[in-house]
Amino acid sequence: NLRIFVDCDPGIDDALALAYLTARPEAEIAGVGTVFGNHNVDTTTDNALRLLRLYGAPGVPVARGAQRPLVQPPTLAESVHGANGLGDVVLPAADHEPVAETAAELLVRLARSAPGEIDVLAVGPLTNLALALSLEPRLPELVGRVVVMGGAVRAPGNVTPWAEANTSNDPEAAEAVFAAGFDLTLVALDITMKTEVDAAWLDGLKRIEGERASTTSDFLEFYVAWYSKLFGARACAMHDPLAAAVLLDPALVTAHVDVPVRVELQGRHTRGLTIADLRPGADTSADPRPSVRLVTEVDREAFFKRLTDSLR
Ligand code: BDR
Ligand code: CA
Repeated sequence: NLRIFVDCDPGIDDALALAYLTARPEAEIAGVGTVFGNHNVDTTTDNALRLLRLYGAPGVPVARGAQRPLVQPPTLAESVHGANGLGDVVLPAADHEPVAETAAELLVRLARSAPGEIDVLAVGPLTNLALALSLEPRLPELVGRVVVMGGAVRAPGNVTPWAEANTSNDPEAAEAVFAAGFDLTLVALDITMKTEVDAAWLDGLKRIEGERASTTSDFLEFYVAWYSKLFGARACAMHDPLAAAVLLDPALVTAHVDVPVRVELQGRHTRGLTIADLRPGADTSADPRPSVRLVTEVDREAFFKRLTDSLR
C-alpha cells in the first residue's frame, strides 16, 4: 500500500489529481497540505476539504500551508481556475476543519513517524516543501518518492514566456527542493502540455453517471474554456492528475532523463525558469547537484483511461 502526502492548491486540475488518488484502494492519502497558488490559501484549503468530501475521502487530515511565497509577493490565477478556484462551481460545504498544524509541520510529523513510507505528490508552489526542509533537513531521507508537477525545461512557460506557474509562484522554494536530494520525479510542462484531453474524452466524462463525474465535468468546463484558446480545439492540459498518475502508476512513464535541475532566481525576464543541461553529450556526472527524473514520454492512452476510471 502507498501512503501519500498531497501538497496542492486546488485548483481545477489539482481536483482531478485528488480524484485520481481517492479512486484507488491501494493508495491512502495520509495528509493534504494546502498552499496559495491558484487562489489564496484560505480558499485552496476550503476547496481541498470540499473536494475530499466529494471524492469520498472526508476523514483525510488537511493542513493549511503557506499563504505567500518565501520571498516575492503572491499572485493568483482566477482567469484559469475561476473566482472560487473551482471554475465558479459551488461544492457542498466541508464537513471537517483543517488540523491545527501547518502543512510543513504535518509533512514532517508524518515523515518522522514512518521513515521511508510516505510518498509526496506536490502539485502547487513548493513553499510548504521548502518550509518542511528547514524544519527537518533530513526530510529527503525520511520520505519515499516525491513527484512534483512544475517547471518547463525545454517547453515554453505558461505564466511567463519561460516559467511555469508553480515554479514561478515561488522560485526560491523550487530551487531549495530541487537541490535537496529527494528521490524526485519532475512532471513539467514538457510532458503535461503534450498530454491534453480532447473533446471525445471530455464528452465521455459527461456520459458517466454520478456526482463524482458530473461535478468534476462542471468545473472542468471553465478550465477547458480557457485552455481551448491555447489548443485551438476543445481540450485541456492535465498537469496535476498526470503527476498523480506518475506516482501511482510509474509504468506510465515510457521515457525520462536523469539530470540536475536549477531554477533561475535572478533573470529579469527569466525568473522562475527551470534549467537542465540537455545538450547532446552533456556530462553532468561532476555536477554537485543531485539529479531529478525528468519525465519526457508517457503512455497517453493508458493515462486517459485511468483518469476516466477514477471518475466513475
Ligand atoms: C500548474 O499550475 C497550476 O495552475 C496548476 O494547478 C498546475 O499545478 C500548471 O502550471
Ligand atoms: Ca496545482
